[in-house]
Formats: sequence, structure tokens, C-alpha cells
Amino acid sequence: MHLTLEEKAMLAGDFGPGIKKAVEIIVALGKIYGAQELVPVRSVQVAGVSYKNLGDAGLEFLREWAGQGVQVRVPTTLNPAGMDLARWRELGISEEFARKQMAVIEVFEAMGIAPSCSCTPYLTGNLPAFGQHIAWSESSAVSFANSVLGARTNREGGPSALAAAITGRTARYGLHLDENRRATHVIEVRCPVVSEADFGALGYLVGRRVGDGVPYFKGLGKSQMALAGRQTSASLRRERSVERSVEPSSGSDADLSLRALRRDLPELGNRGQGTLKALGAAMAASGAVALYHVEGVTPEARAGNVGAAEAEAVVIDSLDEGYAALNSPVDQIDLVSIGCPHASLIEIEEVARWLEGKRVRAKLWITTARETGERAQEKGLVERIEAAGGRVVADTCLVVAPIEELGLRSMATNSAKAAFYAPTHSGLEVRFGRLEQCLEAAVTGRWPG
Ligand code: F3S
Repeated sequence: MHLTLEEKAMLAGDFGPGIKKAVEIIVALGKIYGAQELVPVRSVQVAGVSYKNLGDAGLEFLREWAGQGVQVRVPTTLNPAGMDLARWRELGISEEFARKQMAVIEVFEAMGIAPSCSCTPYLTGNLPAFGQHIAWSESSAVSFANSVLGARTNREGGPSALAAAITGRTARYGLHLDENRRATHVIEVRCPVVSEADFGALGYLVGRRVGDGVPYFKGLGKSQMALAGRQTSASLRRERSVERSVEPSSGSDADLSLRALRRDLPELGNRGQGTLKALGAAMAASGAVALYHVEGVTPEARAGNVGAAEAEAVVIDSLDEGYAALNSPVDQIDLVSIGCPHASLIEIEEVARWLEGKRVRAKLWITTARETGERAQEKGLVERIEAAGGRVVADTCLVVAPIEELGLRSMATNSAKAAFYAPTHSGLEVRFGRLEQCLEAAVTGRWPG
């Protein structure tokens, strides 16, 4: 493997043992995957943040590394933690868990990482440009960055992402190379795909079928995704008013992210972005899809760079099997979870509007990035949701929070990814369906229908 003089010096320990360890991890991975060189990265997203997943051994590993004086070299954010870092008590998280979780966050902060804990960093100021090399960890964020933004990242593990942050580099293999970004399967969709839950069910089916392949969707283009946007609001007029209500009014990084997404995906708006994140998250959960293309929508497909000629053909003519696999027959709902991947401002506004004048009986959590939650607070959305008895929960999500300690047995969600993981990770029985069905379940405490 070719290394620059600086990389060789890192490897020789000239920059200290912490950086030596980091570059050793990257070089070792590069050798396993046949990389010829390292490549500088523009940003990093680190997974393995929840104490629920890390445990004491993980915390000790991080402490030891931080104790070697390492600092990150590029903008770095974190995946969701195991709790809302500010309001954990209100959610019923134990003192013991909170103490350990805060210790994890302090170690990351000591390395120079901002405690921005989200799987949608692209909505909160960390928006990679087309073709940029990055090193992200969380599977849905990796999928969105590769597919919708056209950036280049493998799905990093926690240690390898941290190593990339510390060295500013990753090994050039996998999805950093053109030849691995071509379609392996052409997915012909012959059924309506309208709601975000539909996109999730589709993603579940396709992920299960293609594994770690690169699917190229045909028949799922702009018109169907624009339809998805229209169907989720009562009328076009209303939709325009929602768009106006979240119109960026300042120049914060989060605002710039939203603006850039609108510029790059003008036909889809923020709802199209929501359907794409639901689709990608589901494929990454049931399979290991880290990149997909959508005819006429995603940048590499629009540029004609997907090379689908030799890809295997797959036809999807019904979503029923996906819905059946992600639903259990539970009727009573203890918890409704919206925001997997983390909710955008538009999604929070939809929930606030639907809940107007209603009161929830089940617990209702809308999980989101802290920055998005703050924007929602400024716009009065959090107050409206809390007036109905729901909660906007920052920094965490249902899959990485210690839900099993809260005495909950069942959950409804509009996220195929959450529905896929909740039974095994959190011991919950799950209902999966459209946002409106989930909110109705929150109000009645029972799954509708
Ligand atoms: Fe994000 Fe947690 Fe879902 S990390 S994608 S909200 S499982």
C-alpha cells in the first residue's frame, strides 16, 4: 500500500501512540480489502455511542484512546446516544445508565467531537458534497450520503470511524471506488408506493433480496415520490404552507443543509427526502445496502453512471409481504415511535398538525437531532406536541435507548427499520404502518383497524 510521508510518520509513532493506533486500524482494514492507498475524508460520523451497546468494556476502550491525547482532525459528529442528554430523567432513564452515558459523551468531547448525536447529520449542518470522501458509520446515514448526496463512504464500524476522525483519512476501497458503485440489481417496482411506510416496506423487501448489493430502482422516479409528498398532506395548499413554515430564516448550518437539499432535489422537497431516508434505512436493516440508485432521482442515476446492463432483474409487484413480516398481531399499543431515522422539521410539523385538539393515551416519542428539536421549539411545534401529551426527544432513538428498562411491551411505528429491530433489540411487539395510523394508535392506545 502506498503511504504518504505523513502517513508513514503516523505509523512510526512520530505523532504519538493514539494516532499510531488509529492509522494502524485504517491500514489493516485497507490491507484486508486490497486498498492501494489512503484517502483524506471531509467529515466523520461515529457510531457506538449508546452505553447500552458499548457497555463498560467499550467505555474503557474509548477512555484509554482519549487518554493518549488524540484529537479529531475533521468535523465529526456522533450517532444517537442511549438517552436525551438533557431530559433523560423525564423519560424514566435510570441514574446509573445516565451516569455511564454521560461518561461516554465526555470522552468523545475530550477528543474534540461535538456532542451532536444523530443519524441524520445531513439535516443538521454536516452535508457532504457530491463525490466527497467521508467516513460515516450509521447505516441509514451511510445510505443517504452515498445514494442521495453522491458522497463516498463505506459503512464504518465505531473504531474505524474514530480512527478516520483522528487521522483525517480512510482506506480507499469499497464504495470509495467507481467500480463498486455500479448497480448489481435492477428493481422494477410495479405497485403503488406512496407513504413513507410504503417506502420502508419496499426497502425491507429489497434489502432482504439483494443483501449487500447495489439496487437500481426503476419505476420509482420523481412522479411517484412527488405523489408520496402530496399524499401525506391534506391538500397542496396546506403543503405549501408547511414548506413556508419551515423556510430557513437564519443562516445556521442546519438551515443551509435544508436549502442545499431543496436545491439538489427540487422536485421532491423535504418529503421526498423523507421517503428516500425511509427507503435507505430499511434496506440497510434487512440487508446491508449502503448505496442505491433511483432512476431520474439520485445523482449518479441522473448522470447515467449506474451501469445496470449486467445487473440481476428483480420485480416487486406487492408490498404485502413486507407489511406482514414487520407486523405482529398486538392490538394494545404502549408506545408510538416516530423519527427513525431522526425526524426532519417537516415530519415534526406534520405530527404537530395532526395532533391539534387531541390528547394521546399511549406514550408518543418523536426522536430527532437536538438541532432539529431546537428549530421545532423555536417554531412552537414542541409546545403543540407536548400539549397533546407527546414528546420530542433529542439525541437518542428507540433502538439504542434502554427501552426494556421502561416496562413497555408494544410499539407502533411508521419506520420499517424500527419495526425490524425493536423486537430483538428492545423486546417489543410491533405494529408498523402509516404515520396517521401510528398517531391514531397514540390517541386511542390501540392499533386501528
Ligand atoms: Fe437512527 Fe436509531 Fe433509526 S440510529 S436510523 S433512529 S434505529
